[in-house]
Amino acid sequence: MAMFSERQDEKYMGGEAATQALSSTVVENAFVERVYEKISGVYDLTFGPTLHPGRLQAFERMIIAEGSSILEVGVGTGINLRHYPRSCQVVGIDLSAGMLEKARERIAKNGLRNVRVLEMDAAALTFEDNSFDTVYAPYLISVVPDPVAVVREMRRVCKPGGRIVILNHFKSENAVLSKIETAISPLCVHIGFKSDLDLPRFLEQAELRPISIDKVNLLSMWSLVTCVKDA
Ligand SMILES: C[S@@+](CC[C@H](N)C(=O)[O-])C[C@H]1O[C@@H](n2cnc3c(N)ncnc32)[C@H](O)[C@@H]1O
Repeated sequence: MAMFSERQDEKYMGGEAATQALSSTVVENAFVERVYEKISGVYDLTFGPTLHPGRLQAFERMIIAEGSSILEVGVGTGINLRHYPRSCQVVGIDLSAGMLEKARERIAKNGLRNVRVLEMDAAALTFEDNSFDTVYAPYLISVVPDPVAVVREMRRVCKPGGRIVILNHFKSENAVLSKIETAISPLCVHIGFKSDLDLPRFLEQAELRPISIDKVNLLSMWSLVTCVKDA
């Protein structure tokens, strides 16, 4: 079976029905895993500096308290890990063993004793309900087969009153750009993301009511979505 395809209703295989309208492109975990195994060696060079302003802004929005517990979903090569206060306990999860290997090298190199990383699917987290003060997904949501299922899990493991922060590229509001992003989305999945995820539909289906949405990175083409879990 093909691991990705342009969405046609009769061919749609992944995720829940509610997720179908979010992107023209369908992916499956096995395909995503293979893509990231391939690009793990060059990820920091290609997606490092260009996407870094958004990562730094996300730290401002997370408002991390001393000693708090943090889950980073889709931790990749661990590019964010040294920015967390050493007083915090940080867990990073990722689907790709290749990306996690790079993260472990980084943890060792920087002596990050407060951080551990685990191989896990974001749509099936193995943590207890209400485990973390902050749950952060940087550049993950447009990569996974079912973004709504991932948010459901993020919300479940976040403590009441905790922050859920999502940093991601979403489809442009500009009609021309949006058409281009939809057209190239089946190609973009080969370098790790869908370019046409629909932000308003995503927020609606995931039942997210953000306290802020900041436009970040080059040409403000990425969104930093900050939410607080109901207390
Ligand atoms: C674009 S990278 C983001 C890496 C990092 N967070 C950053 O700031 O650059 C997306 C990461 O999500 C991981 N990923 C994709 N699908 C996943 C899933 N279902 N569960 C956990 N991680 C996943 C990929 O392996 C990859 O490391």
